[in-house]
Amino acid sequence: MTGAAGFIGSHTAVELMAAGHDVVGVDNFANSSPGAVERVHRLADGRFTFVELDLRDRTSLNELLRRRPVDAVVHFAARKAVGESVDIPLDYYDTNVNATLGLVSVMLERGVNRLVFSSSCSIYGEAESMPIREDAPARPTNPYARTKWMCEQILADVCQRHPDWQVTSLRYFNPAGAHPSGLLGEDPRGVPNNVLPYIAQVAVGRRAELSIFGDDYPTPDGTGIRDYIHVVDIAEGHRLALEALGEATGHRVINLGTGHGTSVRELLTAFSAACGRELPSRVVARRPGDVAELVADPSLARELLGWKATRDVADMCRDAWNFQRHNPNGYAETDRGGTEQ
Ligand code: UFG
Repeated sequence: MTGAAGFIGSHTAVELMAAGHDVVGVDNFANSSPGAVERVHRLADGRFTFVELDLRDRTSLNELLRRRPVDAVVHFAARKAVGESVDIPLDYYDTNVNATLGLVSVMLERGVNRLVFSSSCSIYGEAESMPIREDAPARPTNPYARTKWMCEQILADVCQRHPDWQVTSLRYFNPAGAHPSGLLGEDPRGVPNNVLPYIAQVAVGRRAELSIFGDDYPTPDGTGIRDYIHVVDIAEGHRLALEALGEATGHRVINLGTGHGTSVRELLTAFSAACGRELPSRVVARRPGDVAELVADPSLARELLGWKATRDVADMCRDAWNFQRHNPNGYAETDRGGTEQ
């Protein structure tokens, strides 16, 4: 598993190990913390091996897979902030595309042909109709989304050339929430880009108020609507995708979403209920590049993987708050965090 110390990687590692898989995780901690690795070890029952490694270092990756052969790869490692990708596009192409090229060539060399790839609904750009199905046209609108789209195309071409390859790209919508243990959660560096970790930091007193980016969208309350999906549901989706790889060769693309939209105001209300006080907010200008609404049609995941999200926005807020209040400064205080529930 690449990016094993990240938000979705750490949760997926725990999910896989609970189902009996052994996981070899790698991460270079570019946007994650060793504290997350320590927490995964605590939840992993001895099934977790971790190696600090940069995927662009193909020699070390090759050597790792020689020493520690694997049946399949789950590839999360990437940069993922839309705004930042506009500022430093080359870093995005290097980290996301170049690293994927390196990973795939090492897999070819070592005879590993099964892969679950972490893709993104941002590939759809401004979709014409909601909810979004996988056959909607790809219209990425920023470098980040383009890197994900390029990686998908690279994987499709590799599958074309090597018909025994089995690859699933999971395009997920807005991951949120945290592990119910309170040990794992989202710990962004600096000011959070995403709305839920921002609200969580308002709730714990690290930020004064939420800035709502526009309330003049053509939605019922005027604020943007997204398909928030619990990170544990995403983790389960990865496990099922991994376990289903043997059912088909070639490259498959599958959405992971709930099919339900939630506005920024509704999310704030739900988080206020979870933390027991009304959280302050202020409406500011729209954020450039934002769209009014993004909601998945998740029916293909149900059909092909037997997967369906079972956790709602109230669960996401409860679990995110549980992580945040026990880890007010994220993984910086690893010895303070976590409660067993
Ligand atoms: N929002 C606010 N205030 C904030 C942050 C966000 O009002 O401080 C609003 C946004 O305007 C939007 C909603 O909250 O309406 C969600 O914004 P996020 O930044 O949390 O999520 P995005 O949908 O913009 O982006 C996410 C991921 C990307 C991914 C994209 C796919 O961060 O990596 O989904 O659409 F590409």
